[in-house]
Amino acid sequence: MRHLLSILDLTVEEIEELLTTAEDILDHPDKYQDACRNKILAALFFEPSTRTRLSFESAMLGLGGRVLGFHDAASSSTRKGESVADTISIVSGYADIIAMRHPKEGAPLVASQHTRVPIINAGDGGHHHPTQTLADLLTIRREMGRFDGLTIGVCGDLKFGRTVHSLMEAMSRYKGVRFILISPKELAVPSVMLEELDRNGVPYLECQSLEEHMGELDILYMTRVQRERFASEEEYQRLKDSYILDSDKLRGAGERMIVMHPLPRVNEIDPQVDEDPRACYFRQAFYGRYIRMALILKLLRERGEAPATPDKGHPAYPVNQLPGAVCKNPHCITTTEQGLKQIFLRNPENGECRCFYCESKAE
Ligand code: NCD
Repeated sequence: MRHLLSILDLTVEEIEELLTTAEDILDHPDKYQDACRNKILAALFFEPSTRTRLSFESAMLGLGGRVLGFHDAASSSTRKGESVADTISIVSGYADIIAMRHPKEGAPLVASQHTRVPIINAGDGGHHHPTQTLADLLTIRREMGRFDGLTIGVCGDLKFGRTVHSLMEAMSRYKGVRFILISPKELAVPSVMLEELDRNGVPYLECQSLEEHMGELDILYMTRVQRERFASEEEYQRLKDSYILDSDKLRGAGERMIVMHPLPRVNEIDPQVDEDPRACYFRQAFYGRYIRMALILKLLRERGEAPATPDKGHPAYPVNQLPGAVCKNPHCITTTEQGLKQIFLRNPENGECRCFYCESKAE
């Protein structure tokens, strides 16, 4: 059974196929209106969302399916202390596919070990957000017509911004892509991700000025400072206004550069920029529905025959455990999920160990 936990779960060819399906749905929505008849999507949102949840629900409704779920962990049994594993074991008996968002990193991976239906990660802490990346890729394809050879400026909270992490992973697979990483030092891209870029030979440059490289960019991807992931409100207050894109700053940009943002924005893009033809964040949000339709179709098609009765978990635990080690990432699912074993994977090339769930380095 296929799940989508990270964007790297899809090959470049599969992404291409999803984009093509999404464009076909955009052009011929009627053709797909009964494609998921009698199928149910569960949208389990343990964390706030507008676009992602509603576009998933709208996607399933547009395919003739039905939806159920919750949009507030407080209204689910999580409030009573239920684990992710138990919630998923139950809900996967009530639905054919599950889209879930959770504040803890690795929660969808835990879910995938306890489900009878495909799991889609709709955002896990500051870790991954693969379906936003699919929407981003559809936007880039429609706005730029290519993925190769693009210089992408990513600006804002690159430490906690999960959309940035998934986008970088996805775009690193195309030829000639280069990143300009614009952030205050405190919100820089995590070192494990920079090492990944180095390993894949992807050129990047880290800087703190939004204007400095504006003229070189094909894409400027703005992000919100992720208040909910800060350990201290004071630190958030100090960093929240680090970058504000306005028409003045855009003067240095090329005519054909596009401005993207996963939304919601707080104040990092002045509303006056919305009138600029280079601003495409509202179209980006619009495309999200169509790529999610394509994804639901693909995962349901590849689901295969699920067992008829619930089967309580069948974790394929990997080898290479690190006895006695405990994950130090406060956002990791291992900090809250009862009964979850600590597992670390050792990279045979450099001996480095990373948490199986959140991928942070073992110290
Ligand atoms: C993003 C998210 O949830 O990570 N929003 C979205 O899904 N479009 C970005 C954000 O919250 O800043």
